[in-house]
Amino acid sequence: MAIQRALNLDFPGAQSDAPLLRDPAFEQNKQDAIHRWVPWIAGFSAGFVSDALQQYLPDPGRRDVHVLDPFAGIGTTLVESLRRGYHVTGIEINPFAALASRVKCSAFTIEPDTLLSAIRTFEREARERTDPIDAAFERGDDLLQCTPAPRSRPPVAFRSRTPFFSPAVEQKILHCLDLISDVASCQIRELMSLALGSILVQVSNYSYEPSLGSRVAAGKTNVLNADVVSLLSSRLRMMYHDVMVYRDAMMQWTPLPTARVIEGDSRLMPQMVKESSVDIVITSPPYLNNYHYVRNTRPHLFWFGFVSKPSDLKRLEQANFGKYWQTVRNADPSKLQFELPGLSRIIEEITLRNPQKHVYGGKGWANYAIEYFNDCYTLCQSFYRVLRKGTRAIVVLGNSIIQGVNFPTDLFFGQIGELCHLKLDEILPLRKKRVGNSIINSSVRNGGSDVISLYEAAVILRRV
Ligand SMILES: C[S@@+](CC[C@H](N)C(=O)[O-])C[C@H]1O[C@@H](n2cnc3c(N)ncnc32)[C@H](O)[C@@H]1O
Repeated sequence: MAIQRALNLDFPGAQSDAPLLRDPAFEQNKQDAIHRWVPWIAGFSAGFVSDALQQYLPDPGRRDVHVLDPFAGIGTTLVESLRRGYHVTGIEINPFAALASRVKCSAFTIEPDTLLSAIRTFEREARERTDPIDAAFERGDDLLQCTPAPRSRPPVAFRSRTPFFSPAVEQKILHCLDLISDVASCQIRELMSLALGSILVQVSNYSYEPSLGSRVAAGKTNVLNADVVSLLSSRLRMMYHDVMVYRDAMMQWTPLPTARVIEGDSRLMPQMVKESSVDIVITSPPYLNNYHYVRNTRPHLFWFGFVSKPSDLKRLEQANFGKYWQTVRNADPSKLQFELPGLSRIIEEITLRNPQKHVYGGKGWANYAIEYFNDCYTLCQSFYRVLRKGTRAIVVLGNSIIQGVNFPTDLFFGQIGELCHLKLDEILPLRKKRVGNSIINSSVRNGGSDVISLYEAAVILRRV
């Protein structure tokens, strides 16, 4: 019945059959303590995670529960689960997102007085170093003559069409990096780096629309100067406030729940997570929409030293779940590792589309789709291994439109789960309209008069 609803794109939730899970869109997190620390294009909402835990844990009142998110992003599943006293494991390939997850999961262990004192020192010293930059900027003087000069240097291999930062902003960022690297506590250093990461694009000549592009291309003006210190200071003070709230909430649990954030490739999950050790998976893998997490976080990856050369980025791209079209379009034709006639038919259909465009036509996209679903198969096999009997994986996915053809990814994922001996309990529609990267169009006409829209759904798989 629930599967039927998804197939027909019919969402009767508002009428007889109210949805069990809240909208997963990150938007709502912008108000929530801890969750609001850093924006992420495809973050979950805290409310969605809370509903999923309530609905699908066999016994939500039990303490000794292990929650897994193999695509942890900035840690929404992990933080919400920790708050309920559950043990968590997160796997995340993107080092900046992994930093966010790590910092958020451990923030309640930071001593608030030590944090406040570090913030005050930072504010004072950052003002001393950046006020002369503002003065020189006002006078139109050479900014490179300002003293003291920062020790940090812009990342050599980071290239952008438009200078990523204007000179005054860049000098300020370099001073902030110096001050952060001087902080003695590793935990506070990481928290401050995350705060700086959260404003990096805001003070740059780029913006998310939703992919990273120059402000000028989006019809905006460049940021010639910005009050980096005030922006960062208000971020840090908000974080300090949230740390105190978080600590109070966590102190009710003895012993404290444990958090493990692994910066790595979740396709290797069986090497990282013990067999039959997980009580629930709540996750959202990258969609079949080619949203380029690596490219969109390039500034963070280079400026915080997570990568130093293009080949480091390549390595991350190759390890990304589903690969990227850009990395597989030229490869020899790929093959599905399993049999699913409905999926094979759609892949054949796109293979034949637009042959005159060569790899940019159906052939290249078919390769991408095959790689994506092969990774879905590996993921479901891993779920079977790590889940305890009777427990579930809640997997949020969206459909995609490739070369004008609709891929109901949620339905295929459910069927792939069954091929891996998991039981498909249901597919719950979550959102009928989705914004973001759809590859071609957010809605296209499918032959006759049917309009295909983008939607999101939760696939519920059970380990029997
Ligand atoms: C849809 S987002 C998940 C967002 C998350 N639910 C949240 O609330 O922040 C998908 C995430 O999967 C990560 N990812 C992609 N390939 C991965 C892989 N092979 N292993 C682990 N994480 C991966 C991406 O970097 C991205 O952060």
